[in-house]
Amino acid sequence: MNVTRRVPPPRSVAAVLSGETLLPPPIWLMRQAGRYLPEYRAVRAEAGSFLDLCRDPERAAEVTLQPIRRFDFDAAIVFSDILMVPYALGRDVRFLEGEGPRLDPIDAAGIDALDVAPVATALRPLFETLVRVRDSLSPEKTLIGFCGAPWTVATYMVGGRGIPDQAPARLLAAREPALFQTLVDRLVEASAISLAGQLEAGADVVQIFDSWAGILNEEDFDRWSIAPTREIVRRVRALVPGARIIGFPKGAGLRLERYARETGVDGIGIDWTTPLDYARDRLQPVVAVQGNLDPLVLLAGGDRLDRAIDGILAGLAAGRFVFNLGHGILPETPIGHVERLVERVRGHRS
Ligand code: CP3
Repeated sequence: MNVTRRVPPPRSVAAVLSGETLLPPPIWLMRQAGRYLPEYRAVRAEAGSFLDLCRDPERAAEVTLQPIRRFDFDAAIVFSDILMVPYALGRDVRFLEGEGPRLDPIDAAGIDALDVAPVATALRPLFETLVRVRDSLSPEKTLIGFCGAPWTVATYMVGGRGIPDQAPARLLAAREPALFQTLVDRLVEASAISLAGQLEAGADVVQIFDSWAGILNEEDFDRWSIAPTREIVRRVRALVPGARIIGFPKGAGLRLERYARETGVDGIGIDWTTPLDYARDRLQPVVAVQGNLDPLVLLAGGDRLDRAIDGILAGLAAGRFVFNLGHGILPETPIGHVERLVERVRGHRS
């Protein structure tokens, strides 16, 4: 199906994933609930730690809705974190102020001991957050759930934090592929439980964030990014028929097309390094495309921002397209720049 509509239908992000082309395209931003918003910082201060906020359905629902109220985005993404899956698997996860996540690096014994039995119960606050958001979110808005891809989550579990080339996980995968496969298999199971639970709790769409896909060589990209993602897609659709899924293999470059074809996702996220003509000619015929404004260009603003927005719209808005960033919004981003972005995208008509 490929229909162009001029009146936004309900749940427009979900509609694009189902094959529609919408003018103007729907818009939401990765990390749209976050520190660039004073109202987020206020709730975050009340909640205590970041992890406490993720486990508090009332406050998590509130911060999920804040960017919709302020900017009228077309979709809300539930407030949580990809590292809630290792947390649900019983691993120690902390978030250090200004530094990011810290986990106890997992070893062979830890991998062998991983058990998905407690995952559904441990994720109950996340599911409860989705139920609450759906109750208050206007019916035409799309609600998005998410998880991290097994490879990306594994990099944090093995290395204990974000390291520029995530060497510890790459080394373990090279030295002990069978052990690393066990870790990935457990993450596939836990991620499918999480995504299916989120869809059952009210999510219209789910997104799989593979933020570290770009550091894998070609063979490893197939084994550690494409194959586990395809298996999650298969399992989620077995539990929730027709589930709409976006994959975001950040940095995948020329491998995006194969990822789109082989994982079975309905939409693919692209970062700002992906040429727009490649996305139009090689990706849009296969799946819906989402992206790809550089978050630093949004931060910079001005004429450079206007030109970048217009370029993306000229390149991709004639096909199945959801406007987004190429990665999460930065905490220093001025709110006025986000308002300007939404206004410009909404003004696009041809
Ligand atoms: O998009 C949204 O608004 C929903 C919430 C969301 C968060 N994290 C909240 C968050 C989502 C979708 C994520 C995904 C996530 N988390 C990813 C994949 C996307 C990406 O950015 O690559 C990754 C790798 C993580 C792990 C993680 N969580 C890191 C590396 C950090 C530290 C970096 C930072 O921005 O501080 C976090 C913390 C985090 N997750 C914050 C938020 C709002 C900031 C913590 C705070 O508010 O104190």
